[in-house]
Amino acid sequence: MSQTQSDNRHAITLQGVSMSFGSALALRPTDLTVHRGEFLTLLGPSGSGKSTLLNLIAGAIAPTTGRILLDDRDITYMPPRDRGIGMVFQNYALMPHMTVFENVAYPLRVRGEPSDQIHRKVNEALERVGLTGFEDRKPRQMSGGQQQRVGIARCIVYSPAIIMMDEPLGALDKNLREQMQDEIKRLHTDLGTTFIYVTHDQEEALNMSDRICLMSVGEIAQLGTPEDLYFAPQSRFVAEFIGESNLIEGRITAAGRMAVPAGGEYTVRDTGLAKDTAVTLMVRPERLRLLAQDEAAPAGANLIEGKVLGTSFIGGMTRIQILTTQGLSLTTKAVSEQVSRRAQAGMPVRLCWRPEDGVLLDR
Ligand SMILES: Nc1ncnc2c1ncn2[C@@H]1O[C@H](COP(=O)(O)OP(=O)(O)O)[C@@H](O)[C@H]1O
Ligand SMILES: [Mg+2]
Repeated sequence: MSQTQSDNRHAITLQGVSMSFGSALALRPTDLTVHRGEFLTLLGPSGSGKSTLLNLIAGAIAPTTGRILLDDRDITYMPPRDRGIGMVFQNYALMPHMTVFENVAYPLRVRGEPSDQIHRKVNEALERVGLTGFEDRKPRQMSGGQQQRVGIARCIVYSPAIIMMDEPLGALDKNLREQMQDEIKRLHTDLGTTFIYVTHDQEEALNMSDRICLMSVGEIAQLGTPEDLYFAPQSRFVAEFIGESNLIEGRITAAGRMAVPAGGEYTVRDTGLAKDTAVTLMVRPERLRLLAQDEAAPAGANLIEGKVLGTSFIGGMTRIQILTTQGLSLTTKAVSEQVSRRAQAGMPVRLCWRPEDGVLLDR
């Protein structure tokens, strides 16, 4: 978490901001506050409105309704270059005929800075992204990861108050992507600048963000810390988009009790839902515990029996598919050494989970 997190002044506030392209509503009226110094990620499937939201903040497009404030200034119609917002794009958007040095120097030249300052700032920016010595190359003489580092250097070189990145690692392979996630996080910590980052990759969002704004068809599905979204999803969409989840459909039978139509009644958190309310119970695979042969379920835990359908080795952990005696298909994860003894395909198994590890989702 960045040092500036405790500073509660608002960096950016969107009030009722919406965007239509012709008759298509790309963003429904949206309220959002991005705090100064935080790393906020806009996460969501393709077409959910992430780039639209970013382009509205950058000023590349003007909203159909609503206002955008930077601190307390209304910037809704301010030209992009006056906003002090830096942008990094997925396709790098470098100028191919210019050297790395000139690409990074470009924003400073546009601002008419003296050449000794330009040299100092460009060298500093290139050093930050690990590209000292690459000044005279052309973009095409560099790898994708290096080109994106140039894109980042060109963004940070004029010290923008806010840095926005739209799927900057989308064109890179997995290992490089993970390495650059760490580099971008470090950059955020070092600079202390507000970052707004776009990705459709939930692991990337969980890894990098102070907060995640999960979008679904032009609106915010949930805004919160990675832990909030993972452990306390407010809807089925969030539960399914972030991480893996077991979803069990049923009805409330009494305060803190839920019945599953195929059979079985379980203790759930009492969230004040009325009897007969249709609900979906979500339990994360790692919270569903595989019991050893003679192990008793802990007091108060829910117990479910079934048999192993199959296992898949995913490194230190193994994912286990289970079909319960009621016909529910569930997934659990366990430390691989334990699985070889407890869960071979066809073996009868017992699973348990604590009521507080289940999340009730309204249907
Ligand atoms: N310039 C445009 N003209 C028409 N429709 C657009 C335009 N830009 C985006 N859209 C539409 O708005 C919706 C959201 O797009 P976008 O913000 O690019 O989504 P994302 O970045 O999450 O993939 C999509 O349905 C897209 O087709
Ligand atoms: Mg996009």
